[in-house]
Amino acid sequence: MTIATLADVLTPALEKGYAVAGLVTLGWEDMRAFVAAAEAENVPVILQAGPGCREHTPLPILAKMFLHLAEQASVPVVAHLDHGYQYDECQQALDCGFTSLMYDGSRKPLQQNIDETAAIAELAHSAGISCEGEIGFVGYAEGEASNGTVPSEAEVFARQTGIDAMAISVGNVHLQENTGQGLDESRIAAIQAVTDVPLVIHGGSGVPVEQRIRLARETNICKYNVGTELRMAFGAALREAVNRDSERFDRVEILRETHDPIVEAARAVIQTMM
Ligand code: 13P
Repeated sequence: MTIATLADVLTPALEKGYAVAGLVTLGWEDMRAFVAAAEAENVPVILQAGPGCREHTPLPILAKMFLHLAEQASVPVVAHLDHGYQYDECQQALDCGFTSLMYDGSRKPLQQNIDETAAIAELAHSAGISCEGEIGFVGYAEGEASNGTVPSEAEVFARQTGIDAMAISVGNVHLQENTGQGLDESRIAAIQAVTDVPLVIHGGSGVPVEQRIRLARETNICKYNVGTELRMAFGAALREAVNRDSERFDRVEILRETHDPIVEAARAVIQTMM
């Protein structure tokens, strides 16, 4: 059994200077490939159930799949709720076995974000699991604009919520299909000058690879969330498998052929964090 909390895997990452991959899962095929990739690289992995995943598959089922994979795995596996928006869904995730809760109050006024995130951190810690919060707002490609993290607010947020990891907005944007503008390194330095909480970068797909590697080593960034890059790899592998044989209709046969390409893509992502 190698189920771990977020704090279990981020504390050594902060000390030793690397980041852990928070990989966005949509279903069984990708989550098991992500664990296989982490085992091949011999590093921990954070399996993330975000809003899109939860819309497709009920949370208790996702928890069972994550926990089953963790039981079999040779590396630590974190079962992480990504972008929880309600207290109740965080409570439900906790009840069904998740070991890390991200509460996203980043669209709310500062004090409300602090109060609500602190309540989830207390809920998580009372059960021996972890909590991630977000300060500033990480926007969406062709969607909502970002609101950069203000270092003094990050300091207050980290101190008053008691979170184990803090997602920050420093030029990162969700859902980028190509390399973006890169992260604002002076803002990251200003944030880590005022807090020791491990930092999280959402929208990892758009972060230039060279910068991802360097900042994992040199800064307090301990977790990169990566979704789009791996969904694109999965989509390409699936399309190829479907098109390989127009007579084929059994989806298990088709999906089997996505496994190796996803493992390779996830390994390549993981290698940018060490
Ligand atoms: P990308 O899909 O842009 O990699 O972002 C993933 C993410 O931040 C999930 O929380």
